[in-house]
Amino acid sequence: MQFSTLIDDLAVRGWSVQRAFIPGHDSLRLAEECRRREAEGVMVPAAIGRGGSQAVHEGIRSDRILWLESGQSAASDLYLQLMDALREQLNRELYLGLEEFECHFAFYPPGAFYKTHLDRFRDDDSRSVTAVLYLNPDWQPDHGGALRLYLADGESLDVAPEAGTLVVFMAGEFPHEVLPTQVDRLSVTGWFRRRAALPLSA
Ligand code: OGA
Ligand code: MN
Repeated sequence: MQFSTLIDDLAVRGWSVQRAFIPGHDSLRLAEECRRREAEGVMVPAAIGRGGSQAVHEGIRSDRILWLESGQSAASDLYLQLMDALREQLNRELYLGLEEFECHFAFYPPGAFYKTHLDRFRDDDSRSVTAVLYLNPDWQPDHGGALRLYLADGESLDVAPEAGTLVVFMAGEFPHEVLPTQVDRLSVTGWFRRRAALPLSA
């Protein structure tokens, strides 16, 4: 089955790294779209928290983001469809009851980072599973920018943001950070949610 290793990993240890999850030409198209959006100036400084507690904290994270919506491009529609198929299979096999997938482009310019955090808000625990797809061809170790995932027993895992790699983990279980990058670092970062997003009210 298409996602069987990923789903087994998630069931057994709560995280999975899938290299070449999508073909190179598909990640290239997503990267082009992310760069075009950045050049258009429509990517915005990422906020932390939700609703009234939402705020931009440059000391915690310094990426810029743009939410993906269906119908905005062929490349992003393809990715949204793929993740919806994964969502359905996760529900069939692990009974996670995931109702939707939300994701955004993230652009980390040189020097950007995201300090250690959990992908769950104090006032909203509906984000169940995190899924990050990287879009950087020819990523080199000296570019920095690894995702560092803190596992149980004091161990950690560094994932290079190489184009086509997908990392998936249980959103509330693993603290993680993005180490400072030396070069532009592009991704599509998303979450499978158990319930629809709360309204973003003041
Ligand atoms: C996030 C995040 C990780 C990454 O946006 O919440 O942790 O590798 N991103 O981009
Ligand atoms: Mn995160």
